[in-house]
Amino acid sequence: MPNLFLKILTVSFIAKPPPTQYDTPIFYRLESANMEIARIDDQILPLTEVPVHLLDRGLFFGDGVYEVLRSYNGRLFALDEHLARFERSAAEIQLTGINFSDIRQQVLDAFDRSGLQTAKIYFHLTRGAELRDHLPSPDLKPRFFLTVQQLHDDPKKKQTGVKVCTHPDLRWKRCDIKSLNLLPNILARMEADRKGCTEALLVNDQGLITEGAGSAFFAVNGREKTLYTHPLGFEILPSITRAVVLQIARDAGLSVLEQAVTPQQAAKMDELFLAVTTKDILPIAQMDGRTVGNGKPGECTKTLIASFRQYAESR
Ligand SMILES: Cc1ncc(COP(=O)(O)O)c(C=O)c1O
Repeated sequence: MPNLFLKILTVSFIAKPPPTQYDTPIFYRLESANMEIARIDDQILPLTEVPVHLLDRGLFFGDGVYEVLRSYNGRLFALDEHLARFERSAAEIQLTGINFSDIRQQVLDAFDRSGLQTAKIYFHLTRGAELRDHLPSPDLKPRFFLTVQQLHDDPKKKQTGVKVCTHPDLRWKRCDIKSLNLLPNILARMEADRKGCTEALLVNDQGLITEGAGSAFFAVNGREKTLYTHPLGFEILPSITRAVVLQIARDAGLSVLEQAVTPQQAAKMDELFLAVTTKDILPIAQMDGRTVGNGKPGECTKTLIASFRQYAESR
């Protein structure tokens, strides 16, 4: 009798929350049944019936690595480089037991099936799915996810250039790993967007620009015909586009200095640009509200844009 009394009390006074738009009869039936449950948006269900993808460690912790590559004219660009970086990222977070030649085949098959000429391919691997616990089970099976989407090039932005703003680099100390954990990058991009900017340039504790929140960063001293960019290391992603830019810049007779610059030094440069797979080279017209060079894409940037396209379309 006291037990029954307690149960009625619990259901009607303690456990029952104030009514919400999501309340359903099933909510109350399950709550009084003394079982582990989950709520997925407006649905309450037994914990054992939660779809496995909702227990993915990628969702709980960003515990995984990813890649983005693209195609030009129906041909995948730099697939080997992207796969090599993916394999390295996975190894660096101790994601083991992966068949990377199988992943390569999955990327090729999906791209083929899409029939898209100009595609953006995203894929990630997470450590697996299980009930939430910081420490993963030793036998957890990694999970793979991939999308192929139409990529829309924006030639206008290459002609006008984009606005960027600086933002503190709040990321962790292994930015060389292409981890799913992108919260600081996202917050920086949201802040940039609020300021009407396309990208945030991340500035580290030493006052140096590391890279964009989602792109590599370059500065050009036109008189010295020198290209500056942050050196490879833990502080930046080893961008595939960055590597191509360095190669074509050298081929075009530019000197390359893998040396970071401060926002003040960048402001005095003749040209600034961003580099990323989905957009290749994007000139910067304004940084923190100040015009870069004469406000239009500079000669070096334009040459690099043209050479990049030629290189990408010939591979
Ligand atoms: C932080 C960061 N840096 C640089 C890049 C550019 O890398 P990639 O040229 O391989 O696309 C990206 C791309 O997503 C990025 O997120």
